[in-house]
Amino acid sequence: MREFWIAPSILSADFARLGEEVDAVVDAGADLVHFDVMDNHYVPNLTIGPLVCEALKKHGTSAPIDVHLMVKPVDRIIGDFAEAGASFISIHPEASEHVHRSLQLIRASGCRSGLVFNPATPLTWLEHLLDCVDMVLLMSVNPGFGGQTFIDATIEKISSARRLIDDSGLDVRLEVDGGVKVDNIGAIAAAGADTFVAGSAIFGSDDYAATIGSMRREIRAALD
Ligand code: DX5
Ligand code: ZN
Repeated sequence: MREFWIAPSILSADFARLGEEVDAVVDAGADLVHFDVMDNHYVPNLTIGPLVCEALKKHGTSAPIDVHLMVKPVDRIIGDFAEAGASFISIHPEASEHVHRSLQLIRASGCRSGLVFNPATPLTWLEHLLDCVDMVLLMSVNPGFGGQTFIDATIEKISSARRLIDDSGLDVRLEVDGGVKVDNIGAIAAAGADTFVAGSAIFGSDDYAATIGSMRREIRAALD
């Protein structure tokens, strides 16, 4: 049985109390801390960098940090995040001139590598790259903002990515990011995802543990 991971996106956390917010979601049962890095160039928003990742590690955050780089160019910042304590580092193919090299760089720096697919980015990138990735991350919204609506066409893309991963026999996680809520997480799991990013659905709720608990129940119910 696959392990299912919930990855709250701190994009929707209260940044003035970031350490406490991360402690709270980890105590509430989060498996990963999803860390969205935006540069106001590759995406139209600006967020946080390696210093904040390092600060969370120094604060004592024990859960693995899942860094989602929406940054162009991307190579120079990979080493900084590895040093700052990232566990996973994911990149968008459109943000790298040499995608294979960027993925190699992530693994060489001791982190697990992810490749991110925007809604319009075809999975054909995986044809020559699947053995270079530890995580396939499918965007179910266009990157840049929290709180957007899940794009339904992603469900079919999740099934296709699941088939590609299973056929390869490789150990690759399948993560979905954008508009994931208690009421659609079951369908997302049934399509084949095993790692679920949720920002507004968790940080916008009154009880993080209850929301993560409901998400796990929906996943289990969908797979029974
Ligand atoms: C969007 C980010 C997401 C975002 C998800 O570009 O990559 O991780 O925080 O937020 P929700 O879950 O609110 O759609
Ligand atoms: Zn993200």
